[in-house]
Amino acid sequence: MSSQEQTILVTGGAGYIGSHAALALKKAGYNVVILDNLSYGHQELVDDVLQIKLVIGDTSDRTLLDQLFTTHKIDAVIHFAAYIAVGESVQEPGKYYSNNVASTLNLLSAMLAHGINKIVFSSTCAVYGMPKEVPMTESHPHNPLSPYAASKDMVERILSDFDTAFNLKSVAFRYFNACGADPGGLLGEDHDPETHLIPLALLTALKKRDSLYIFGTDYDTPDGTCVRDYIHVNDLADAHVLGLEYLLSGGASEVFNLGNGNGFSVREVIETAKEVTGLDIPAIESDRRPGDAPILVGSSQKVREMLGWNPNYADLKKIISHAWQWHQQRHGEVKR
Ligand code: UFG
Repeated sequence: MSSQEQTILVTGGAGYIGSHAALALKKAGYNVVILDNLSYGHQELVDDVLQIKLVIGDTSDRTLLDQLFTTHKIDAVIHFAAYIAVGESVQEPGKYYSNNVASTLNLLSAMLAHGINKIVFSSTCAVYGMPKEVPMTESHPHNPLSPYAASKDMVERILSDFDTAFNLKSVAFRYFNACGADPGGLLGEDHDPETHLIPLALLTALKKRDSLYIFGTDYDTPDGTCVRDYIHVNDLADAHVLGLEYLLSGGASEVFNLGNGNGFSVREVIETAKEVTGLDIPAIESDRRPGDAPILVGSSQKVREMLGWNPNYADLKKIISHAWQWHQQRHGEVKR
């Protein structure tokens, strides 16, 4: 069956990574339906930019899922809908286990009841916890350090058990640090509240914030600040299309890291953001943020070999310049 005849449900498709993946699916010729409760997603991006059918609702709503799976003949699901704030998850673990785990179980159960047995799942490198080796491979031991990370780890386990019991086939992608924006300027990152380094640096450049905090300068890293593997959201989106095609062509359940394998420190990110914007980004050295690993860098050898994934935008400057284009458009003119 060609992609034109296949319909993919994207949960969380009004959010950051989900909207970029929905655009990539549409460009690849799939019919796409988005399910999003709009707690953090942006309806106008779905309606006006993506122009994709949006069902407003929650993955916890079994009646809605039954209606959706009856109305639309869904061939596979890509499941992004989840809460993502690591710090908040420590304060409100029930919220994370309920939305990220219980609602996913509800989704899986509805899928199986309607004969849908293929799912691509958003996981995270946070399932590994503190790194024992760099770059981390998929066989690195798991030690989730927050309820957020544990919720993703639990779903990975559930997917594996559901394959054994019900023949549910899944691809789980463990993202490193998603960032950047659609190079065409259509989509980008807009979290409220924003907690991520690159958008915070750009909002500071735009004078939407006075300054940025550097969380920890005494790590055992080359410049004392944390090192992360920043991966362009469009490269993540492309991987989801490849993961979907792999499942649709009968692939077995797999887990893949998605990172570039290059680490950049917090200081390097801020310096690159200054270079890209040509603006000052005042940064205040501050205490470590609880739960941060000093270095998180992933090996993407497996996804390259098995799915033929190849990032188009591995260059940090390029990633930040795409994010900057989006932020200027979304958040207004630069005040010098
Ligand atoms: N950082 C700062 N100042 C800030 C914000 C972040 O110094 O204002 C630092 C963090 O301490 C970290 C780095 O910048 O060292 C990147 O932080 P982000 O918050 O942008 O990203 P995280 O690495 O914390 O989180 C990302 C995803 C999570 C995922 C996690 C896995 O957003 O969903 O990677 O580690 F769980």
